Parts: sequence; C-alpha cells; structure tokens
Amino acid sequence: MDYLITSLGFLFGSILLHALVTISRSFSKNKKSKKLPNPPGPTPLPIIGHLHLLGEHYHKSLADLAKTYGPIMTLKLGFLNYVAITSPAMAKQVLQKKDLEFSGKWVAKALHAHDQYKYSVVMLPVEARWRSLRRSMNSAIFSGARLDVTEHVRENTIQELLDYCKSYSLRNEAVDLSVAAFMTTLNSLTSAIFSKNVMDPNLESSIRDMRDVMWNIAIEAGAPNLADYFHFIKFDIQGVTRRLTNHFSRVLELIIDPIDERIQQRDSKGGIEKKNKYNDALDLLLSIIDENPQDLDRTHMERLFLDLFIAGSDTTSSTLEWAMAELMKNPETMKLAKEELARVVGKGKPIKERDVDNLPYLQCVLKETLRLHPPVPTLIPRLLKERDVELCGYTIPKGSKVIVNVWGISHDPNVWKDPLAFKPERFQESDLEVRGLDFELLPFGSGRRICPGLPFARRLLPVAIGSMINSFDWELEDGMKPEELDMEVKVGLTLKKAQALRAVPKPMS
Ligand code: HEM
Repeated sequence: MDYLITSLGFLFGSILLHALVTISRSFSKNKKSKKLPNPPGPTPLPIIGHLHLLGEHYHKSLADLAKTYGPIMTLKLGFLNYVAITSPAMAKQVLQKKDLEFSGKWVAKALHAHDQYKYSVVMLPVEARWRSLRRSMNSAIFSGARLDVTEHVRENTIQELLDYCKSYSLRNEAVDLSVAAFMTTLNSLTSAIFSKNVMDPNLESSIRDMRDVMWNIAIEAGAPNLADYFHFIKFDIQGVTRRLTNHFSRVLELIIDPIDERIQQRDSKGGIEKKNKYNDALDLLLSIIDENPQDLDRTHMERLFLDLFIAGSDTTSSTLEWAMAELMKNPETMKLAKEELARVVGKGKPIKERDVDNLPYLQCVLKETLRLHPPVPTLIPRLLKERDVELCGYTIPKGSKVIVNVWGISHDPNVWKDPLAFKPERFQESDLEVRGLDFELLPFGSGRRICPGLPFARRLLPVAIGSMINSFDWELEDGMKPEELDMEVKVGLTLKKAQALRAVPKPMS
C-alpha cells in the first residue's frame, strides 16, 4: 500500500488532467440520457475514488461497505467502475438470470505476462475458443467417465500422502500440512494429466518452492495495480507483469518437458493404440490436436495446463489444510468425523471414493470448510464489455468490473446463523450444495463459468481429509492447544491460511 501511495504521488498531475476530462464527459452524457441510476456507493475522493477504502482484506472491506450501501454497490477504483454484489438474490441475477451478459472476464494487466490472457480459459470471453477449451478439458479430465478412469491415480497420491505422514509419525515430528496438501493436489493433477508425479515427497524444499511460486502468482494477480485503475498507464510501473512472467515461466517448466517427451514417443511408436498408451489427458488432448486442430493446438494445450495447475493447486490444497485446521481447532467435530469413518469404513482402513456417499458428516465438514474459507473470495471478476445492463433497478455501465463477494455472503448473519462458527451440523438439516445452484454457498461460482475443477475437487478432498483423520490422531505442534491455533488469513487473488498448519500424526489410539 505504501508503494501504491508513493506511486500515486508521482502520477498526480497527469491523473488530474484525465480525471477532469472524464468527469466532464460523463456529466454531459448523463444530461442526455434518462437511465436507471447506478448502484449506490460511498462518495468518492477525487482521482483515487474509493481505492483507500479497500484494505488488504478487500473481501472484508467490501462486506463491511455492503452493510451501509447494500447488496449491490458501486465503487470507483481510480477510473475503473467497480460493482460489488453481496447477496444470494443478486448473485443469482448476475450468475444465472443474466449469466451471458456478465460472463466476460475482466483481465488484470498483470495477466499480459506471457500473453496468458490471450490463451487462458480463465480469461477468454465466452466465444468459440473458450467453448472448445472447456470441452477439451471436460472430455480429457473432468467428466464423470474420465474421473472414474483416474480414480486409481488419486488413490495412489493419497497413499503417498499417508506414507509421507507416517514417516513423520515414526519420528514423532510435525508435518507441515500446507506442503503435504500441495504435494497431494499437484501430483493428483499432474498424474491424471501426464502420468507423472512432479512433486517428490523426499524433496520437501522443491515442494515448498513450487507452492510459493503458485502463491506468488495469486498475490501478483490479486494485488492492487495502478495500471488497472488508470487506463492511460501503459507500462508496468510496479513490476507486477514482470514478476508474474517469471512465475509463469517456472510453472511452464513443469509442463513443456513432459509434452516434448510424449510427442517424441508418439512419433517414434506410431499406431493409435501405442500412441494412446498412457490413456491420460495428454494422450487425449494430443489426439484432439492431431484430429481436430481447429479445436486445439499445442500452445493452447500448454496454457491450459498452466491454468489448471494454477487454478487447481492452491484452491484445493488450501481447502484441505483449512479442513484439517478446523477439525483440530474443534475436537468435538473431529471426534464425530472419526466416529463416522470408524463405523462406515473401519478404523485405519483406506477410504474409497464410493464410500463418500455413506459419509454424510464428512461431506458436511467439507461444505462448512468451503463456506467459512472460500478460496476464491470474490470469484473471478467479470467485465461488462458490450453494453450497459439493467440489474435489479440499476444501470451497470459498460466497462464495469463486477465481482460477487461469496465470502461476504457466506459470512453474512442475515444469510447464515452464527456465520463465524465452524458448524458442519448446519448442513445436516439442509439440502444446500456447492454446485452453483444454491446462491448462499458459491465456493465454485455458478453459471456457465462455474469452476470446471469442481468434480475433481469433490472427489479428491473428502477422501484426502477422511484418510488423514482415519489413519492418524493429530496433535498440534509443541503442545499447542486447539484454541491457540492461529486462523489468520493471507490474501491474494485467493485466500489461504497465513501460518502453515503444523501437526504431529500419532498412531491411532
Ligand atoms: C476447492 C477447490 C476449488 C475451488 C473452491 C475453486 C473455485 C473456483 C472459482 C470460484 C472459480 C470462478 C468461478 C466464477 O467466476 O464463477 C473457478 C474457476 C476456475 N477453476 Fe476452480 N476451484 C477449485 C479447484 C479447481 C481445480 C482442481 C481446477 C482444475 C484443475 C480448477 C480450474 C478452474 C478453472 C480453469 C476456472 C476458470 C473457468 C472459466 O472461467 O471458464 N479449479 N474456480
């Protein structure tokens, strides 16, 4: 923030000029048309608008402002018009009723790194290329049939997680659960995609290193960037794009070699069966490239993997870590979850994905974790690109960045009783699901841009959480008491636990 303020000082003169031009233009426009009003909001300061009102924990600042200005609110961030939605009813309008109008993505300047915005399924507008990428991703990775085929892959990575914890248990040492969760998530993805575990449990520093690269991407992509708020700033004055370029390069290093190796193997072997020997996502996507090049090419495939590793690893691993943290902070909940597992699966026995239907309490633990700790607190911002849109009696002007504050909704006492408490029981009496149809609970978003990784996360997470607590009793490091556990949050484009959870896995009593 200090840096932001200093940079703002330098820019003051030229900004003032642009502000005057813009204000006079919008004044003459408003005189001409009789439109519905824009959503309410606080009075903006000259030039910076409301930038000063968004703290580091921007999702909280927005939720607080919504208490005064309501569930649909306008802010000015520099020259950018920003609309924040903070109620289930309004979220339904944006994500379901007017889904198409609001399905464009607002592209942060940072994402010009490696030109990723031109290729990324996360950033592309809802047009032919985006559709073909979603189709390819679904048919190669996330459809029910593909997830059935790769079940053994997730089983193996969860076994690797348990072995990793066991080695700590034998030494009576604490596991860093952020490292363990990251390794499991990334290996589950890379082994489904190119039949390779890229994280070696014996090389903990390299797991830590890649975890930090992913987290730095979330920080840079979510950090306030003057170039986003003042459109005439054409260069990367804060160095965000440069740093993001380096981080993307690090992730691309994981991707390029396996693709090159596989292409060489396929070229030398020939024959459809041998070509598709691995029957993994890479084989399937390379076949699409061969047979339907209009649907996919190599660059889009590489960048799709980049998206998947970035979008999938932090979100899923931080959910696993939060679930374990909440269970350790709430010993009664831990006890109930363990009892259910002992009853249904058997104490210490491995859990299969098909067991999860018979583990309703474990499912409630996962939903409650995602309610209290949605990893993407304001979804991925949308852009109203084409024209003004009417929404609930207001005009949302063309060019607005629109966010849905799912964190705000899931912490709102008007929507949830006792919203700050971790109470999986609240889901025992309700049909609420996380699939994007219940607008009180939107950790994966909703509508046509709903998270495509949802089915993967819903398969991996309950088995991973259940396996960890059905195989060990967990004690916080250094005799820390549950009530002393630090639950502070670190903020980027995603949220995660500020202090990595450290706990000792003990043999089950
Ligand atoms: C607990 C785990 C996860 C959570 C909570 C989560 C959450 C989200 C959210 C909130 C969005 C934005 C939706 C919107 O704007 O309406 C999103 C988009 C996306 N997610 Fe996830 N995600 C998770 C796991 C994954 C995984 C495992 C993958 C892939 C391996 C993935 C890939 C993506 C992609 C590619 C998009 C962009 C979709 C588009 O714009 O068309 N996510 N995710």
